[in-house]
Amino acid sequence: MRVLVTGGAGFIGANFVHQTVAERPDVAVTVLDKLTYAGNLDSLDPVKDKITFVHGDVADTALVDRLVADTDLVVHFAAESHNDNSLHDPSPFVQTNLIGTFALLEAVRKYDVRYHHISTDEVYGDLALDDPAKFTEATAYNPSSPYSSTKAGSDLLVRAWVRSFGVRATISNCSNNYGPYQHVEKFIPRQITNVLLGVRPKLYGSGTNVRDWIHVDDHNRAVWTIIDKGTIGETYLIGADGETDNRTVVETVLELCGKDPSDFDFVTDRPGHDLRYAIDATRLRTELGWQPVYQDFRSGLQATIDWYRANEAWWRPHKDATEVAYSRTEQLIQP
Ligand code: NAD
Ligand code: DAU
Repeated sequence: MRVLVTGGAGFIGANFVHQTVAERPDVAVTVLDKLTYAGNLDSLDPVKDKITFVHGDVADTALVDRLVADTDLVVHFAAESHNDNSLHDPSPFVQTNLIGTFALLEAVRKYDVRYHHISTDEVYGDLALDDPAKFTEATAYNPSSPYSSTKAGSDLLVRAWVRSFGVRATISNCSNNYGPYQHVEKFIPRQITNVLLGVRPKLYGSGTNVRDWIHVDDHNRAVWTIIDKGTIGETYLIGADGETDNRTVVETVLELCGKDPSDFDFVTDRPGHDLRYAIDATRLRTELGWQPVYQDFRSGLQATIDWYRANEAWWRPHKDATEVAYSRTEQLIQP
């Protein structure tokens, strides 16, 4: 089977490529990636002799047409993925997340190629902190940020191409991923690398916001489960019951690194900051038989800290520029 993986030099895409090469020797992988600030060819270094890499844009219709004509499956990870960036400049989010998805959909429609669309739980907006409810496949779309609204729009394009044109597509909406190869702009790698460098972690607002953490390998195994067993046209939520508030994450990182758990700062909150995400993955578990391997967030976090400690050469070149960008808007506060 030939698979075109868009965004395969990013965090989740690179881990997907690693897992696919290791566990599916019958799959020939081609990666299409624009290598934005978030893409890193070093993340594909361990598998570089086993895959084909194409440097290009998912919104380049001629390139996409040529690549899709020559594949059996497209798994679309490529996106502008960071909420904070989308608040400063939404433009690349509209271009890549909407126009890029449109280009891929037109190509898979033309060549009748199976398509899996990677999306996020953020399309559903947020939940109250004291609400026992979780997101399900029936929850109404209600995105908050430029990032999540463009992801919601891309999901709706996929649904329309299924219904109107018979495109053979599935969609998955996953909660917050953690693990190796995640850019240092994101919450967990930012705080781990801060602590490793002797810098105090930074919590937005009150630190009470909740995210539903899942290890990236569990996300990617769920994606393959949906490709193998999912029903065309359907949406599947992916989550591993990992609800944790941000303050607890920071305290745990500090503790696992042998530091004082209270040694962090509060900084200016993110505008429109979603309060809580929580996934009900009953459908994926019962209909398709998926189960997460990483059931214990603390040990998954320890493994992730160990990875960043052992791979400073991978993240160090990107750390200073990321922190300079944050320092332009971030100020210390008392919550
Ligand atoms: P990332 O920012 O780490 O990687 C994105 C990759 O896409 C990079 O390699 C980048 O170079 C590439 N890219 C960006 N624009 C491109 C373009 N126009 N053409 C080709 N390549 C382009 O993102 P990630 O965290 O790995 O997220 C991957 C996907 O998973 C995204 O669709 C995101 O919305 C979704 N998702 C992420 C999470 C999470 O917690 N990180 C959770 C749920 C869903
Ligand atoms: O829920 C899935 C989404 O998870 C994905 O769709 C996004 O691509 C991914 O980036 C992630 O979005 P978040 O905005 O939840 O992730 P982020 O890592 O930016 O922040 C996680 C939480 O931590 C959030 O509540 C904001 C907070 N935060 C973040 C940073 C960078 C801090 O408190 N301090 C920080 O320094």
